[in-house]
Amino acid sequence: MNFSLITSAALSQKQPAAVLFAFEKERLIGPAAFRNLLARIGPKEFRGAERQLLLLHTAGKLAPQRILLVGLGARATFTSETMRRAMGLAARKLRDSGLERAAVQVSADHIDDSLSAIVEAAILATYNFHQFKPKDDNATELKSLTLCVPARADLKAAKRVVAEAQIVAQATNYAREIGNLPGNVITPRVLADYARALAKESDIACTVLAKKELEKGSFGGLLAVGGGSANEPHLIVLEYKGVGADTAHPIALVGKAITFDSGGISIKPSDKMDEMKFDKCGGVAVLAILKAVAALKLPVHIIAVISSAENMPSSTSYRPGDIVTSYRGSDKRGVTIEVLNTDAEGRIVLGDALVYARQRGAKTIIDFATLTGAVVVALGSFAAGVMGNDEALQEKIRASGQRTGDRVWPLPLWQEYKDKIKSDVADIKNTGGRYGGAITAAAFLAKYVGETSWAHLDIAGTAWTTDDLPYLTKGATGFGVRLVVDLLRRWS
Ligand code: BES
Ligand code: MN
Ligand code: ZN
Repeated sequence: MNFSLITSAALSQKQPAAVLFAFEKERLIGPAAFRNLLARIGPKEFRGAERQLLLLHTAGKLAPQRILLVGLGARATFTSETMRRAMGLAARKLRDSGLERAAVQVSADHIDDSLSAIVEAAILATYNFHQFKPKDDNATELKSLTLCVPARADLKAAKRVVAEAQIVAQATNYAREIGNLPGNVITPRVLADYARALAKESDIACTVLAKKELEKGSFGGLLAVGGGSANEPHLIVLEYKGVGADTAHPIALVGKAITFDSGGISIKPSDKMDEMKFDKCGGVAVLAILKAVAALKLPVHIIAVISSAENMPSSTSYRPGDIVTSYRGSDKRGVTIEVLNTDAEGRIVLGDALVYARQRGAKTIIDFATLTGAVVVALGSFAAGVMGNDEALQEKIRASGQRTGDRVWPLPLWQEYKDKIKSDVADIKNTGGRYGGAITAAAFLAKYVGETSWAHLDIAGTAWTTDDLPYLTKGATGFGVRLVVDLLRRWS
């Protein structure tokens, strides 16, 4: 999608449509012909409520052929998320009405926030997964938006806002595209190829540990989980050192990338098992974050560690009762795990990755994982759970989530939860019982991070959506990309 910026009113543009946002109970201003048009609208047709849209024909009375009114709800409750939702719905309305171009009026207040929300939402809302079902020939594509900012706006700054919003939204769609690929198409090896390709086109270094290297390094967790599949496990490591970054303080981004999670020997019920193709979304988010960070040239030092395997049942699978030894790194010995359920595999592959990240010198670790069904029970699909050992870090993450719409909410990580995963025969066991499952999973991870500042995001409820949302279509959402890019922008 193409964006241009101008400092004149959308209502004076000769375009197929002008998009105007309206607060509830507030009158829109404009020339007499425009006011006449509005005067004909019945109160139930449009009153500016959230999610309300009205497309009007101007019948030659105004420069734009049509006007799309878009409701924002009450001014008092307005946030950038309101704008994203409104623009998401508007972009689809334009496209579905067969319009390829439009002028969008950007209001004078919160111009930077609104601009980036508009650009982001337009790109995100019109994304579709087409690789295996090309869109039909007469489907319209929304090709260009003219963003109309107030005359006193700083155009140079606005241009930068638009360019950066494009980078972030495109990285999010990149995560969605890889996230939507099914298990037969994307295996750990193929995911590693994606990482290598990304590294090649940007300022990123990439190392991949395939099965042989994993064996050499005794990555016992990843090898155990991946052992049941002919698609061998891979540890994918990327490093980005931005100009001006504090290299004494590398930030590790760690991701769970189970390319398909059948549950293994503790096999899952077949109902909705297909959704477990999305069990790689944590790792994919990490990949996409690096893509955005490198394109934005952020002054940060990032080490990304993506732990990828396929969890399958076979004669070579790990079993309930097995005792597995995690990667040791520079610790005296690796954490030992009593496997009680092979379906609690995410925490096991993350254990190895967390130790590896610490060994590489990470001073802060953030991990992303579709880790538990329990977090979906707790928070539904509207927020990811955040847990960890550093409240200040969690608070920063929560604030970035609020700003970007990738919302997260904290859950406690008290000693009582840690006690739940004590084992008689190993350091820990891989399940903590039915209650508080999202937290006992985090308690398991805590065993691997030591004193390093760490936050864990359980994105099981937010990594994909089964319904179309105002600015996200069904499928992988790219959750975490917008959040962490915002966090890293504010880091230094
Ligand atoms: N990938 C799943 C978690 C999941 C389940 C994500 C449903 C999204 C929707 C994870 O590997 C898993 O199976 N977790 C188990 C853990 C349990 C066996 C302790 C779960 O949540 O049921
Ligand atoms: Mn599982
Ligand atoms: Zn899983």
